[in-house]
This record gives sequence, C-alpha cells and structure tokens, in this order.
Amino acid sequence: MRALTYTEHGGPEVLHVAAVPEPHAGPGQVRVRVAAAGVNPIDWKLLGGFMGGSETPEAPVVPGFDAAGVVDEVGEGVTGVSVGDDVFGLGTGTQAELAVLTAWAPKPASLDWSVAAAAPSALEVSERVLRLVGVEPGQTLFVAGGAGGVGAVLVQTAVARGITVVASAGADNQGYLREIGAVPVTYGDGLVEAVRAAAPGGVDAVADVAGRTAAAELFALAPSHDKVISIANFDLAAEGALVTGGGPGESRPVEALGEGAELLRESRIVIKVQTFPLDRAAEAYATSLSGHVRGKLVLLP
Ligand SMILES: NC(=O)c1ccc[n+]([C@@H]2O[C@H](COP(=O)([O-])OP(=O)(O)OC[C@H]3O[C@@H](n4cnc5c(N)ncnc54)[C@H](OP(=O)(O)O)[C@@H]3O)[C@@H](O)[C@H]2O)c1
Repeated sequence: MRALTYTEHGGPEVLHVAAVPEPHAGPGQVRVRVAAAGVNPIDWKLLGGFMGGSETPEAPVVPGFDAAGVVDEVGEGVTGVSVGDDVFGLGTGTQAELAVLTAWAPKPASLDWSVAAAAPSALEVSERVLRLVGVEPGQTLFVAGGAGGVGAVLVQTAVARGITVVASAGADNQGYLREIGAVPVTYGDGLVEAVRAAAPGGVDAVADVAGRTAAAELFALAPSHDKVISIANFDLAAEGALVTGGGPGESRPVEALGEGAELLRESRIVIKVQTFPLDRAAEAYATSLSGHVRGKLVLLP
C-alpha cells in the first residue's frame, strides 16, 4: 500500500510516499481504507525525534493517529461494526491507504470525510481535559489557545455542554473564536486584564492547550492552581497544575468519539479543515510546525 513514511528523523523534507506492507487488524481493532487522515503536532514532534527515541528508526515509520475511512477488516472480539461501515477514530500509521484503528465511532453520514478525520484526537483530548479539570455546565472556562486543532474542538465541546468559554488567540483568529462560541481575547500584553473584563464573575477553570501562555498568567486567572490544566506545558505540574498526556487510565476515547459524533452531526462542533494530497504532506507538516494553524490539517491518501 502507499503510505507516508520516514526512515530518519528530521524536518518535513525527510517525509516521502512509499510502498509499505499492509497492516492488519489485531484483536479489538478494525482496519479501514483511509479516506482522510488528520495531522497533529505530535506527528512532527515524533518525526523530529523530539519525543525521546531519537535514534534512526529500524523500519520505515508510517505516521498519523487520526483517520476516517471504510472498515475493510474486523479484528477478533470486535462487535457492533462490519466491513463496509464508515467510521472515524484513533489508531496508528493512519497517513496511509490502510490503517488500523483502536477506537472508533460511526461517521455521521452528513459529515465530510476530511472533517471526520480532523476530529478524533481533538475530541479525545477535549473530553479528557474537561473531565480532569472538573468544569461544569454554568461555569466559566478560559482556554489558552482556542483557535488550534485541539482548542477549537475544546471550545465548542465546552459551549455545547453549557459552559461559558473565554479563549485566547492571535489577532487574526479573534473572529474565528467568536464564530465557534467563545468570547475572544488576544494573547500577549494585557491578557489577564482582558480575560477578567470578558468574565467579570471570574473563571472557574483554565485549560492551556497551546503551551505558550506564561504560568503566572494562567495561575492569576484560576481560583486555585489545581484548576489549571495543560496538555502542552508539563513544567506547570511543579507548581500544582494538572498536566495530562493521555496516559493509562486517563483517556476515554470511545466515550469522546460518541459524544463528538453527535455534536458534529448537529453542527454544534464545526471544524475548519485545510486538505492536502498525501504527496504534499510535507507542506501540511510545515504548516503545523508554524504553530499558527486555524482548525485542522488533513491528508487525503
Ligand atoms: N498532552 C496531550 O494529550 C496532547 C494531545 C494533543 C495535542 N497536544 C499538544 O497540544 C498543543 C496544541 O495542539 P494543536 O493540535 O491544537 O496545535 P495547533 O493546531 O498547531 O494549534 C496551535 C494553536 O496555538 C495557538 N497559539 C500560538 N501561540 C499562542 C500563544 N502565545 N497563546 C495562545 N495560543 C497560541 C495558535 O493560535 P494563533 O494562530 O491565533 O496564534 C494555534 O491556534 C501541541 O503542543 C500538541 O503537541 C497534547
């Protein structure tokens, strides 16, 4: 099958499309013929060898964790899904013609393949962040970095649950934040004052999903340090914030995909996507590396 691969660590220039052996669905898994695959910052972090394991890979690596496609193999013990079903979900090596998924949900018929492929990780992280920081309907959440792949889905999931959201982004993304239901503020000088003005009753919890906001600003806005959660700045743990990488016991992907499928079907979550053919994956990675993505980047194999 054709897949995006790399055989050495580096920047987007070391990516290439090559023929690799097909994966197969193991117990509890399904294989899909991939219609679209999401790109996440973790992809270029792994490509660059920034996540540990920086030695040259032993075999060509096929990157990617998000996909939408048609089931073509059902692993042992899997029930409730059949060959030919349209699904979206989380797996490994998704930036390829065929990929194995470990968690999935039926793709709403009205949902574009590329939007479905953009959603899985962002839905999983959003469900996790809201649960771990414990923010309830009627409360107010500040999202530091609301315009990115995770941020935009987190904002909309929270709004759909009846949470008031104030979110930060650059000047160009203020209109986008408003569109997705947040009260927008610009990051940089005056951030704390701007959030306080936008949420005069105070903020009940703070979710840092870009890892670019100073700890002092995040803590100044939260009622206590344990009401700050970050997915991107693990140093905050030393000061009493919650940090989460989706380790064992933290993730509930099936639950998140189920809730997300419904919100996507009802257009209560809308994801802006920019699509690239697999052959132009390096451009998508370079865009992600820029750190200023609006919505999500998706590859079409
Ligand atoms: N721990 C986990 O489980 C987990 C899971 C998924 C992702 N992550 C990490 O979370 C981070 C975000 O992921 P993503 O997919 O959302 O990335 P992304 O799509 O590339 O979005 C990055 C966002 O950061 C915003 N940003 C840049 N500088 C900022 C600043 N100073 N203050 C606030 N926002 C700022 C950008 O907004 P502007 O364009 O408006 O500047 C952009 O929308 C990455 O580091 C990723 O690796 C962690």
